[in-house]
Formats: sequence, C-alpha cells, structure tokens
Amino acid sequence: MGHLRAHKTLSILLLMLLIVMYRFLLVQKVVDNASLYDYSAHNKSKTCQRTKIFPFKIGCPARCEWAVSEDEPMYRMGVTWWFGEPEKYPLDHPTAYSKGINFQCSNEFTEAFGSSSDLLHNSLVQSLPNTTGTLIIKRQKVMHLALSYLCCLRKNETDRVREIAYKWVQDVSPFEFEVAFDRVECYHERQNSVTTIIVADARSQRTIASMNQELNERLQRAGIPVSVKRRDQMPSHVTLQGVQYGNDYNMLENDISSYLPLIYDKVSDLSQTMGSSWTGKSPFLRSVPRMVIKHAPYFSFKGSLHAGKEKK
Ligand SMILES: *[C@@H]1O[C@H](CO)[C@@H](O)[C@H](O)[C@H]1NC(C)=O
Ligand SMILES: *[C@@H]1O[C@H](CO)[C@@H](O)[C@H](O)[C@H]1NC(C)=O
Ligand SMILES: *[C@@H]1O[C@H](CO)[C@@H](O)[C@H](O)[C@H]1NC(C)=O
Repeated sequence: MGHLRAHKTLSILLLMLLIVMYRFLLVQKVVDNASLYDYSAHNKSKTCQRTKIFPFKIGCPARCEWAVSEDEPMYRMGVTWWFGEPEKYPLDHPTAYSKGINFQCSNEFTEAFGSSSDLLHNSLVQSLPNTTGTLIIKRQKVMHLALSYLCCLRKNETDRVREIAYKWVQDVSPFEFEVAFDRVECYHERQNSVTTIIVADARSQRTIASMNQELNERLQRAGIPVSVKRRDQMPSHVTLQGVQYGNDYNMLENDISSYLPLIYDKVSDLSQTMGSSWTGKSPFLRSVPRMVIKHAPYFSFKGSLHAGKEKK
C-alpha cells in the first residue's frame, strides 16, 4: 500500500512540474512575440516616452519634410474603427454607424473607458500645477482604434487612397477579429503635450499590423508613398486622454517636459489598477476576455491639412 501511495504522490509531482514548465514556456512565447511588434516595451525609463515622430499631429509629423515647397498643402487620412461616444450617446442609442457615434464595442470596454477617464482626470488635476492657468486636460470623447494614419499625401494622391482603401474594406469584409488591451502608457507628442493611450496586447498588435501591411502593400503597388511606417507611430491603441499646457506648442513657457515623470506615475497607477480587464474579467486565471470587432473601419474622407515645410 505504501508503495502505491508513493507512486501516486510521484505522479502528482510530475504532473505539477509539467504544468509549471508549460506555463513557463507559454509566458516565454508571449514575451518573444511581444518584442517583435512592441518597440515601446523596450524602454523602461520611468517617464513618458517620446513619440518617434516629434512633434506629432494625430499620428503624423506636424510638418512634412518631403513637401516640394514650403506652401504645398499636405493631407492626412485615417482608417479607423469607431467605438462610440459614451458621454453624448447612451449605450442603447440607435444612431448611424456612418456618423461614427453608435456603439460598436463591448459594454465592458465602454464602462472601463469611462471610469478610467474619470480616475485619470482627477489624479492629474490634483497633481499637476496650473499656476499659469494654461493646464488643459482633454478627455477623449469618441472612442476609436486606428488601423492606419496615412501622412503627407498630395491632393491627387488622396483620391487614389480613398479608392484603394474602399476596395480593401470591400475585399476584407466581413471583418471579424478579436482585440484585448493590457496597459495604459503616456507619450510625449509635442513640447507642450502628452497623450495617454490604452495599448492593445501583443496578439492584437499582430492582427492589426498584418491588416495595416495588406493595405499598405496595395497603396505602394499603386504608387502611393507610405511615408510614415505604422511601427514608427505609437502601438495600436485607443486614446484615453490628452494633457497639455496651452495651445501653442512652440512657446517655451508651455514646455511639459518637467512633469513627464509625474504624469508617468499617475498613468502607471491607472495601468496597474486596470490590469488587462479592459474588456471584462475572465473567471479563468490569466485568460483575458477578447472583444470581437465585426464592423468595417470607417474611412475618413476629409484629410486634415498639414502645412509643407516649416518656414525658416
Ligand atoms: C527612453 O525614453 C526616454 C524618454 O522619452 C528617452 O530619453 C530615452 O532616450 C529612451 N531610451 C531608449 C533606449 O530608447
Ligand atoms: C487651469 O486654470 C485655468 C484658469 O483658471 C482654468 O480655466 C482651467 O480650467 C484650469 N485647468 C484645469 C485642468 O483645471
Ligand atoms: C500626382 O501629381 C504628381 C505631379 O504633381 C504626379 O507626379 C503623381 O504621379 C500624381 N500621383 C497620382 C497618384 O496621380
């Protein structure tokens, strides 16, 4: 009998060892994949990271260096999934998707977004000085996840982009993929401003990156330059809130740099509080419920105007 019990104990021990090894391998694999697509994960300094494109204007350079002349207007276009505007339209509001205001994401995400926005707003208002009266905290109203920010396009190129993006949406539809979010990060995007973003997890980064690549390949085949690569922009995210001093980012007195570590702390606290429960809480250890996106991205037809080169 004693022999049998020892045998049983040994089997249980072996099984536990296997489970531990499996977990370890699984975690290793996720980390390896994450480093492929998430350059931001490499920077461990305790401050908001600077966007690669700096200063930054909605995913694009503030000025386009490749403009032929200083006055040449350049356009930006976006391909974006709209998730709704919770403050203005309640969850059950029957609005048109074409207006980008109905709800195309889970209630869990909408609720997490709202409460996080309140938490961050309050902690920033309490900790950041407003002695000059220029502190602006911009809550993101329309929740959205961008697939592509196309930058520095000439007028005639915007028409081609519109046709190609529309055709791509037709070919890929119906969309059905899963996303999850696992942290909040802050990015120093201009001298006077920081943006805080809810970052998609490694698996979602890969899904979105491959769709972005498909679209870019079509654009490049048609001779449209993809001047700013997606991986040189921020990782795929939903913007939560902006913080800035004044509206003029060229004014030295509006510099936000000295507050970056403080903002980083507040954003990290929020990130810790939320963990990966943005799309709800799973009853299973380590597993995160993923939100299914079943609608096509909305294509912004009106490209924002960028000036050409900065006048010297
Ligand atoms: C990390 O981010 C900080 C702040 O933006 C920057 O000064 C530093 O050069 C970055 N380090 C690396 C290795 O990218
Ligand atoms: C900063 O002060 C100005 C002037 O008093 C005020 O209008 C603004 O709302 C304040 N900013 C914040 C975030 O409280
Ligand atoms: C846009 O116009 C420029 C000349 O201004 C031309 O070189 C280019 O091929 C045109 N691009 C497209 C996509 O029509």
